[in-house]
Amino acid sequence: MKNRIEELNDKLAKAQLGGGQARIDAQHKRGKLTARERIALLIDEGSFEEIGALVTHRSTNFGLDKQKFYGDGVVTGYGTIHGRLVYVFSQDFTVVGGSLAEAHAQKICRIMDLAMQNGAPVIGLNDSGGARIQEGVVSLGGYADIFYRNTLASGVIPQISAIMGPCAGGAVYSPAITDFIMMVENTSYMFVTGPNVVKTVTHEEVSSEDLGGASAHSVKSGVTHFACANEVELINNLKALLSYVPQNCEEEAPALPYTPGNEKREKLNTIIPENANSPYDIREVISEVVDNGEFLEVHKDYASNIVVGFARLGGKSIGIVANQPAYLAGVLDINASKKGARFVRFCDCFNIPLLVFEDVPGFLPGTDQNGMALLPTALNCFMPFAKLPCHA
Ligand code: HXC
Repeated sequence: MKNRIEELNDKLAKAQLGGGQARIDAQHKRGKLTARERIALLIDEGSFEEIGALVTHRSTNFGLDKQKFYGDGVVTGYGTIHGRLVYVFSQDFTVVGGSLAEAHAQKICRIMDLAMQNGAPVIGLNDSGGARIQEGVVSLGGYADIFYRNTLASGVIPQISAIMGPCAGGAVYSPAITDFIMMVENTSYMFVTGPNVVKTVTHEEVSSEDLGGASAHSVKSGVTHFACANEVELINNLKALLSYVPQNCEEEAPALPYTPGNEKREKLNTIIPENANSPYDIREVISEVVDNGEFLEVHKDYASNIVVGFARLGGKSIGIVANQPAYLAGVLDINASKKGARFVRFCDCFNIPLLVFEDVPGFLPGTDQNGMALLPTALNCFMPFAKLPCHA
């Protein structure tokens, strides 16, 4: 029996090392943490329970039988963040580039199923080259299973995706349909495929940063909601975001104790100019209104003519949607409508009351805005006085 226990402990110790020390060193050299180090930062100390640490793949294709690593490239489990239950998967780039195949996908699906059964958020720390090429169509099937669960979980439990490395193919499509996406500047990427493949297929030469870096997605495409300077900042932002949202669609977000202070908010009288054509920064108004001036802005660098984010009023979590007169006079265009609608829909699903600041000249006219008519969801959900149901 003693030998069996030693054997088990030996395997568990090997699982801790993922793809081995040399690859861990290479990961650190790139300024990236390992899958386990990220979990340690995210989850309350001592609360993480790992599931499937000794899972391996079953493939023998293309020499994979000689490339087996305990955990199959993803660390999965559950634990608490500020005492609240969450389910987590953290992909390990040191194991075949964090690529996803049958066993890896099954581990993620298990976590998503448990999160649904127990009504708790699911957090994905993504660092993966996408479908593991060697396992072929089985890898693609694994993604189908994950996408299906993403859609079932949508609007039921919060789904948050942190992009922690170069993510390609399926490793991007699943995060893209979750509620919030966070990226790290200069070390994380989201693209259909990497620059080398792009060059081979289309002869276009493009850097990883321009193709799918944090700034490309936070400013231009709007795919990512938060661009963070480093992994630690990302994890701190992720914890802050979670503090504003409930565990699931049947609960309310946790409230903080609130002691009323000076509630006169006299500075508000000086922010808004007499002349209705003069710009002002709506963020100044928001910080004067909300508890302690604390505002977690979502999609900060995208469609700046509208401002959305989370704050607290009297200790209770609220969502804020505000026109921004300081940018394009706060006019509504396609991107602003999509940004506002997406945020409103999330708050609607998760019982988060909205505070709307309106100061808007209307919709931006012009031929490049014709697509607006194709966005009924965006318009219906954003127009606060339209009194339309918002469950599209
Ligand atoms: C198998 C992979 C892999 C993959 C990376 N690796 N991606 N192995 N399948 N998808 C392996 C590499 O071979 C390498 O192994 C190790 O991981 C590290 O990768 P590097 O290329 O050395 O790292 P880096 O230079 O940082 O580049 C990372 C990368 C690049 C940008 C992700 O590896 C890349 O472009 N990979 C292919 C991405 C891709 O086309 N994925 C799409 C798959 S199809 P060694 O042993 O040499 O160190 C897909 C469709 C899903 O996902 C559809 C769902 C319906």
